[in-house]
Amino acid sequence: MGPRLPLFPEQASSYAPHVDAFYFFMIGISAFFALLIAVLVLYFAIRYRRRSEDEIAGDIPHKTGMILEVVWTVIPLGLVLVMFVWSSVLFFEVVQPPDNALEIYVTGKQWMWKLQHREGQREINELHVPMGQPINLKMTSEDVIHSFYVPAMRAKMDVLPGRYTSVTWTPVKAGKYHLFCAEYCGTKHSGMIGWVYVMAPKDYQAWLAGDTGEGSLAVRGEKLFYDLNCNNCHHSDGKGRGPNLENIYGTEVELEGGDKVKVNDEYIRESVLNPQAKILRGYKGIMPTFQGLVTEDQIVQIIEYIKSTTKKAAPVPKDQAGTGKKAAAEKDGSKAAPAAPKQ
Ligand code: CUA
Repeated sequence: MGPRLPLFPEQASSYAPHVDAFYFFMIGISAFFALLIAVLVLYFAIRYRRRSEDEIAGDIPHKTGMILEVVWTVIPLGLVLVMFVWSSVLFFEVVQPPDNALEIYVTGKQWMWKLQHREGQREINELHVPMGQPINLKMTSEDVIHSFYVPAMRAKMDVLPGRYTSVTWTPVKAGKYHLFCAEYCGTKHSGMIGWVYVMAPKDYQAWLAGDTGEGSLAVRGEKLFYDLNCNNCHHSDGKGRGPNLENIYGTEVELEGGDKVKVNDEYIRESVLNPQAKILRGYKGIMPTFQGLVTEDQIVQIIEYIKSTTKKAAPVPKDQAGTGKKAAAEKDGSKAAPAAPKQ
């Protein structure tokens, strides 16, 4: 833990000490040079003061000047390069989630934080996470730019409309920590705050097992899939007017015009909101947009549903098994869409 400076929030993530070390390094460098320059200014002002009316400064030998120039160029260059490399390493640490990271979806909305756990728990302005497990927050905004900031984790990331950003950290200390919006987003920006609760893993499991209402995100997504009549065109036998979406997640598909695209969260989101953008080869651009008909939270549920129909996707929470509705749709042909070549 080290000495506690009241100016600093707790170090609640494994990432926090790394950020603090870098921060102290920069403060140290800045303080050293600020002091050095201030002292030298004073010293030179006295040492080299003008002593008589007609005094003229002597020349500095060319060689001395050269050496000085090189020294005060190379040393700061080296120092800022250290800062650059060090901060880049820290940046990658916070944007590259490890494979075992627990994915939680975040939606920023004027003026609240909405959070969805894959298992189905949903929260507003509160986030429960287990201690010791890497957390990957997948974030988007319903309206303007927000920024998800938990000082105790030392991690802050912009939350943008129209795309997913992510931030990852591992909480290492149980407790309750402030959550802020750190990007001015309108009248009640300052009220867009909440709490992160870091719990012992078994407490978290107990919390997760609490009432989830309508089941996991994948189950909700499946319900939406039928409620919005997506199944009218996206048949699982590949004979529908739209491509079969089973086993498509994570694969590379071919588009009209020969380009290829990987089916990931971004592509699914784009295809829901702007279906004409990237049309699978062999299909017509007849799908209407669902812009304004689905919220970002719901898009995430649809993504989770499509993910859950893919065998090699990350393990999906236990209760994702399909409801009876799917059986009514078709027999499970389960073969890939014609336009989706195996990678
Ligand atoms: Cu949201 Cu500031």
